[in-house]
Amino acid sequence: MADRIRVLLTEEEVDRRINEVAAKISEEYEGRQIHLICILKGGVFFTCELAKRLTVPVSLDFMSVSSYGAGTESSGVVRILKDLDEPLAGKDVLIVEDIIDSGRTLAYLIEVLKQRGPKSIRLCTLLDKPERRVKKQVKVDYTCFTIPDEFVVGYGLDYDQKYRNLPYIGVVELDNK
Ligand code: IMP
Ligand code: MG
Repeated sequence: MADRIRVLLTEEEVDRRINEVAAKISEEYEGRQIHLICILKGGVFFTCELAKRLTVPVSLDFMSVSSYGAGTESSGVVRILKDLDEPLAGKDVLIVEDIIDSGRTLAYLIEVLKQRGPKSIRLCTLLDKPERRVKKQVKVDYTCFTIPDEFVVGYGLDYDQKYRNLPYIGVVELDNK
């Protein structure tokens, strides 16, 4: 049966906000090159939209990690499913995520990537759910939207691998009544 999706952030709102964040990042990295690390799969839509709007030189790499079992709770056990292609030594790294929830994935990832000797490492996320944070040490440098504790889909985010392609952010209202 089809789930109902309630729109939380429209395509226009997301678009406008990415413009603002991209402008801020471009300004702060003036004169440098940004090495964007897209966290697959969820971060891919946001990474593309952000990268297109950056006015400083950009290089791109991809990493895939798994932090969940089958459910919607982070397990705390993070596995690298696909590692980066390029070394990070001397680079200004900007990690691009879809959403920071418990913070477990990023807490682990930042520690791993720091060991590879980047010149700097910052974090940019489309969505942040601060109420859910378990790993309080995770510092988010750029956030597009802070949202309440609801399970969201679209713009790369999935529910059981569905809805990543929605051009807006929505909340799934399960059709089981
Ligand atoms: P964390 O380790 O709990 O911060 O989980 C981060 C990852 O969980 C994100 O990169 C998403 O893939 C996934 N996630 C967390 N919240 C949501 C949500 O509301 N919708 C879809 N995926 C989510
Ligand atoms: Mg993710």
